[in-house]
Amino acid sequence: MSVRLDKLLSRLGLASRSGVKDMLKAGRVRVNGEIIRDPSFQTPLEAEVALDGKLLDTRLDRHLMLYKPAGVLTAREDPRQKTVMELLPPLYTALGCMPVGRLDKDTTGILLLTTDGELAHRLISPDRHVDKVYEARVEGCLNDSDIQLFARGIPLKDFTALPAKLEILSPDTGRVTVQEGKYHQVKRMFGAVGKPVIALHRLSFGPLPLDDGLAPGQFRELTEGETAALYEAAGLNA
Ligand code: URA
Repeated sequence: MSVRLDKLLSRLGLASRSGVKDMLKAGRVRVNGEIIRDPSFQTPLEAEVALDGKLLDTRLDRHLMLYKPAGVLTAREDPRQKTVMELLPPLYTALGCMPVGRLDKDTTGILLLTTDGELAHRLISPDRHVDKVYEARVEGCLNDSDIQLFARGIPLKDFTALPAKLEILSPDTGRVTVQEGKYHQVKRMFGAVGKPVIALHRLSFGPLPLDDGLAPGQFRELTEGETAALYEAAGLNA
């Protein structure tokens, strides 16, 4: 597989298409050690590309884990409010990274982002049964009857939630595993058993737990092993 050199450089967010042309004209870009000035040069995806003598990371497919803090929107852009994309270097927006599903503005915890739309789509599809685990602090006291109601599948106004596993960690804190992600789903499920959620935090998404080395607002790229596990959970080849 190959890609036009000017397209590759502008997708990496290095400069606009015309800025990239100037870079090339000035002889600042080498591909496999050779200065290339032709913007239409077909660059193999595995080629070594250097700008001003420095090797570039030219991977176009990226997968990230972000520790989403409270107070930011899960959206690619928003005219008024800060989004999760603003917590990342602009490179990831230039590459087309998108959040996998959505966490509410006040929800914290693991949020995956990827450049692969098919992967994102499959990971949030209820048909794939990918577990998402949340810790919820609620008003009131959780009890065994809540566990049973969750396990049966809670009827909500517009649909019945799939059966979910609820574990009680302390009287007002539960850990719940769900396989779907409808709007406000976890909050609505607790609300339906009379225990409104005060705070919600996502501990894991499919095979990936939130990295405890990340602080709120920090992110990292997934390792090869994590990426492979995620593709497997989505039923896709990496
Ligand atoms: N369910 C919710 O209610 N909110 C979230 O942010 C995620 C799941």
